Amino acid sequence: MHVSPVLAAQATYPFVRIEQAKRAAAANGIEIVDFGPGDPREPTDPLIRQALIDALGETRGYPKAEGLPELRSAIAGWLSRRFGVSVDPEAEIVPTYGSKEAIFSFAQVVVDAAGGKDTVLVTEPGYPVPDRGALFAGARVVHLPLREDDGFLPDLDAIEDDTLARTALMWLNYPNNPTAAVAPLSLYEDAAALAREWDFLLASDEAYTELWFSEPPPSALQVADRSNVVAFNTLSKRSSMTGYRSGFVAGPRWVADALRSYRPTVGTAPQEFVQLASVVAWGDEAHVDRARAVYGRKRELLLGALDALGWRVAGSDATMYLWVEVPAGETSEELAERLLGHGIVVAPGAYLGPSGEGYVRMALVPTVEDCERAATTLRSLA
Ligand SMILES: Cc1ncc(COP(=O)(O)O)c(C=O)c1O
Repeated sequence: MHVSPVLAAQATYPFVRIEQAKRAAAANGIEIVDFGPGDPREPTDPLIRQALIDALGETRGYPKAEGLPELRSAIAGWLSRRFGVSVDPEAEIVPTYGSKEAIFSFAQVVVDAAGGKDTVLVTEPGYPVPDRGALFAGARVVHLPLREDDGFLPDLDAIEDDTLARTALMWLNYPNNPTAAVAPLSLYEDAAALAREWDFLLASDEAYTELWFSEPPPSALQVADRSNVVAFNTLSKRSSMTGYRSGFVAGPRWVADALRSYRPTVGTAPQEFVQLASVVAWGDEAHVDRARAVYGRKRELLLGALDALGWRVAGSDATMYLWVEVPAGETSEELAERLLGHGIVVAPGAYLGPSGEGYVRMALVPTVEDCERAATTLRSLA
């Protein structure tokens, strides 16, 4: 029996481990509130659901990789309203099947080992998909640690010149999963300048730009020269549409052209009824305001309880996550196990990368009522 050595070398996907531990606790009669995986459980707005129903025609052929023109226009309109950037819907936008598959496969499109560009830079702790996608593409992965002392931003000056020379792609993800940090536009300016100097692409995973609590975070597309910048965004978090699978890539024409030539083979264009529902989702901000208010309420409940408990929250500016420091004397896995004993599931930071040790991540996905219940439990641990 042969499987890909990259697959064989992979540790169990962290959330599978959390899921197993959770099931064991539930089997022992413990009532669970699950702050583990970041899968929003807020209902999708009725406006969007109705648009999906209305779009169900009698037949629909294979969706085309370039996506429906009305969706590309809706995305361009949103980018213009939200970030003040002008992106050509014909040439520079490619709709994707959520953003995960596009993030995973991007290294296959732009890594050129024979041409001396065999390296992908990935921040850690982080969402594991860009890292794994690069490995499956046969690329060399170099990790950029995110440390609290640096505001959970990568130290671009610390990257060696010989690494930069080999770099095809640098991934950034802000607002960041898991640290909940927001990047200033200056980080994108610096990273884009570095990318131009060393002839690589800056890939910006912006899945959480719409889940913020004080100021709307910037996009990498706002840099002065975006000739080397590619942004990935999605309706999953903004519009609680994880199950629909709808996102996009926006970048220079040559990157969009490369994607349009790669993607028909993979077959990852969203169904056209999903694309038509997505037009409505990108066009409406009222439901996003309401979603932010709900996440804000949950955030306040938990911040209050963690404060009463004397636990420090290291990151909570945006995203649906709280990045909580582990009290002295415990590892992140030990704290997660201890909390599981009280029915509270969190993700140990170490599962998300070595620099995540010392923290646990709480995804604000349970209902407000369940968050209230968990807050009461947390306060009782004081
Ligand atoms: C950082 C980050 N990027 C991208 C995604 C992908 O989301 P989707 O494929 O649903 O668009 C996620 C999902 O959890 C994420 O955490």
